[in-house]
Amino acid sequence: MTVKPVFTEAAPVERPDDLPEAGGFLADALAGLSKPQKELPAQYFYDAAGSDLFEAITTLPEYYPTRTELGILDAAGPEIAALLPARGALVEFGSGSTVKLRRLLRHRPDLSVYVPVDVSAEFLHSEAKALRADMPDLRVEPVAADFTRPFALPGDLADLPKAGFFPGSTIGNFEPAQAAALLARFGRVLGSGAILIVGVDLVKDRTVLERAYDDAAGVTARFNLNLLTRMNRELGADFDAARFRHRAVFNADASRIEMHLVSRAAQSVSLAARSFAFAEGESIHTENSYKYTPEGFRALAAQAGWSPVAIWTDPQALFSVHALRRD
Ligand code: TRP
Repeated sequence: MTVKPVFTEAAPVERPDDLPEAGGFLADALAGLSKPQKELPAQYFYDAAGSDLFEAITTLPEYYPTRTELGILDAAGPEIAALLPARGALVEFGSGSTVKLRRLLRHRPDLSVYVPVDVSAEFLHSEAKALRADMPDLRVEPVAADFTRPFALPGDLADLPKAGFFPGSTIGNFEPAQAAALLARFGRVLGSGAILIVGVDLVKDRTVLERAYDDAAGVTARFNLNLLTRMNRELGADFDAARFRHRAVFNADASRIEMHLVSRAAQSVSLAARSFAFAEGESIHTENSYKYTPEGFRALAAQAGWSPVAIWTDPQALFSVHALRRD
């Protein structure tokens, strides 16, 4: 199960903070639809309907990442947890549910503080409450923040050894340069000597990848198309979702799955008194999910000041969990 580390030693480079600032849904939608390749920022997938559809995606037979990562966390849990600092603080970036975290805490009951960081304050506090009830000795310190923007940890954690947890291959939804900037920011938040446990989806056969993002039941298609419905409801746009179709394609040169909404016909759509023309077959690019080799991800992490400690994969090498250390 353990792949021996191939060390890619590189001097840490502090990257400029090049994570883009969100301009609000309307401003972002107008800007994205005005580009030659139309696009919409993926962060807007997650309204209430989108969050439910995403939950459904994670249990689809074709969508292997969630169950594979959970399997790795189960099988390698003791080894991974042994790298977390006893009586230290564990910071989870974009925490969502605590399902994956609990797989680690089982083997590290002497952790002092858990800091879930998530934009959704409501979900954050309900999950924190449930975790406190189950683990009364663990101090749970939720931080309601967008982890792609600067944020501070509670001040009294300054002297504790720290680890970060970033599962789900969310790192793959960032452009590589932004992913490196994000990893560098995590490093600054956690401090030197910190450990980072990060889930990263692996490059693999194109048909397996494309099926994972275009399932037979059409759940991912509904998730993608929900963006149009959301723009109609929240921004007063007049998209006819039936005139668009979901497309997922592996772009091997860029090593990423791309999701698009493809116009089924020539049509024009209005948004905030502006009109956007679509040719038949023209698409809105809605999401990227970058896939890495173990070496490729280590090289990216090295740019952000993280050195490889260990990597775990499943027997089919579908998914990887990396442990990194910040010197
Ligand atoms: N980060 C995961 C992935 O890329 C989850 C995810 C983000 C996702 N956006 C998605 C899954 C859109 C399916 C469709 O796989």
